[in-house]
Amino acid sequence: MKIAIFVGSVRNGRYARIVGEWALQQLESRNDGNTYEIVDLMEQDIDPLTAEVLPGMAKGVYEDPKTTAWSELIAGFDGYFFVTGEHNASVPAMMKNAYDQLHIEWQNKPVGYIAYGGGGGIGAVKHWRDITERVGMINLATDAMFPFGEYFPDYVFTPGERGAAMLHAVADELVDASERAAVSVEAQVPWQSPAHPL
Ligand SMILES: Cc1cc2nc3c(=O)[nH]c(=O)nc-3n(C[C@H](O)[C@H](O)[C@H](O)COP(=O)(O)O)c2cc1C
Repeated sequence: MKIAIFVGSVRNGRYARIVGEWALQQLESRNDGNTYEIVDLMEQDIDPLTAEVLPGMAKGVYEDPKTTAWSELIAGFDGYFFVTGEHNASVPAMMKNAYDQLHIEWQNKPVGYIAYGGGGGIGAVKHWRDITERVGMINLATDAMFPFGEYFPDYVFTPGERGAAMLHAVADELVDASERAAVSVEAQVPWQSPAHPL
């Protein structure tokens, strides 16, 4: 499986990239045969959503070449970690804008959250769950949430063994759900199904 680590902050001095890189290192140390890759919002060229055709109606075909490039990148993954801070009890707006540009690319694929904030990013995760469910993604039972007080002593991200255990619990679920989702998509394509007479 190919799993993205979507780093969703474009803020100067952001923690998102530090958290994302730690997650990548942890995930690669699993040696589980899956590929993990950072998708950093700061490295993407994504405009504010102005397209006339609603993303849910576009079926992956976009007028804006920037959206097409974003679509092709995101469509290539089987599952996603969202590395998310919390802005005013919700999700970061730029991350939501990037998310909203697409639709079919996310659908029927699992998403796990790596969140941080005063309360561990609980408000962001709550809203992300609503948002991604609306689009038809598969949400998991566990999240990795890092409250500032416990995991950012002296403003330094310090996940420790407890943080790593949280991340790997989400990863176990995400990998499993990605594999199941990939099989069920294959089963929906008749000419790829062994049961199909053609
Ligand atoms: C506009 C704004 C609103 C924020 N609101 C919250 C909030 O409601 N709850 C919270 O825990 N942290 C809040 N924060 C603090 C962020 O969680 C913190 O800045 C975090 O580091 C942002 O992620 P980043 O460093 O990856 O950009 C807010 C930050 C900004 C910029």
